[in-house]
Amino acid sequence: MSTFFITATDTDAGKTYFARILVRALVNRDKKIAVYKPISAGCQLIDGVLINEDAEYLTVEANCGQTITQVNPIAFLEPIAPHIAANINNTVISLNDIEQNFLQLSKLSPEITIIEGAGGWRLPLGSGLYLSDFVKSVKAKVILVVNMKLGCLNHAILSYEAIIADGLECVAWVANCQKKMPFIEENIAELETLLPIPKLATLYFEPDIDKAAKSIELSPLI
Ligand SMILES: Nc1ncnc2c1ncn2[C@@H]1O[C@H](COP(=O)(O)OP(=O)(O)OP(=O)(O)O)[C@@H](O)[C@H]1O
Ligand SMILES: [Mg+2]
Repeated sequence: MSTFFITATDTDAGKTYFARILVRALVNRDKKIAVYKPISAGCQLIDGVLINEDAEYLTVEANCGQTITQVNPIAFLEPIAPHIAANINNTVISLNDIEQNFLQLSKLSPEITIIEGAGGWRLPLGSGLYLSDFVKSVKAKVILVVNMKLGCLNHAILSYEAIIADGLECVAWVANCQKKMPFIEENIAELETLLPIPKLATLYFEPDIDKAAKSIELSPLI
């Protein structure tokens, strides 16, 4: 089973948007795909269950028959840093739980599991731990979504360096151009030079996931 962890230069950078597109493209290629959103903060309480929108989107795209709780086992109501949400709810985020919930997914025999992170690469879990520690423990391959805006060159390079310094493979990146940016093509070209990994897609503003799914280069992944 291959596992890819989608991180980004920031929150709201397009991790879920890209994950939806990627899963759609892989399912269209008849791949069996599981999804995992280990932690979410910012949910609606529906019939006593905390439902996160990212997890809903991912659940709909995947094709292993997962429940939303299997996709997103750790959820907090408040749209704040997860370890602070845990704190105000008198709980702690357990790295072991995150790992065990991930390992359970292998029972579904997916060919590929797509994991969406939260925030950027170095997301604190509390107790000195980070979500990146989970990625290290399962040795997932990392895909970096770059939110193309002023400052993104620094954010992209620092994120890439941190992933490599953690001993992980950052296998590809994505240029997400959801908003207009002056000299966007020049900035993308600069990142193509500075990041020694393939770019899977340049995504412009496109609400239609099917259309966007056609613009992904899957060969570096499968
Ligand atoms: N290229 C795009 N075209 C159209 N809409 C986009 C694009 N990229 C992102 N969006 C939209 O921008 C918003 C933020 O993107 P998204 O939710 O994917 O970010 P995220 O990195 O997953 O954020 P979080 O850290 O909260 O999980 C969403 O409403 C998403 O649909
Ligand atoms: Mg998201």
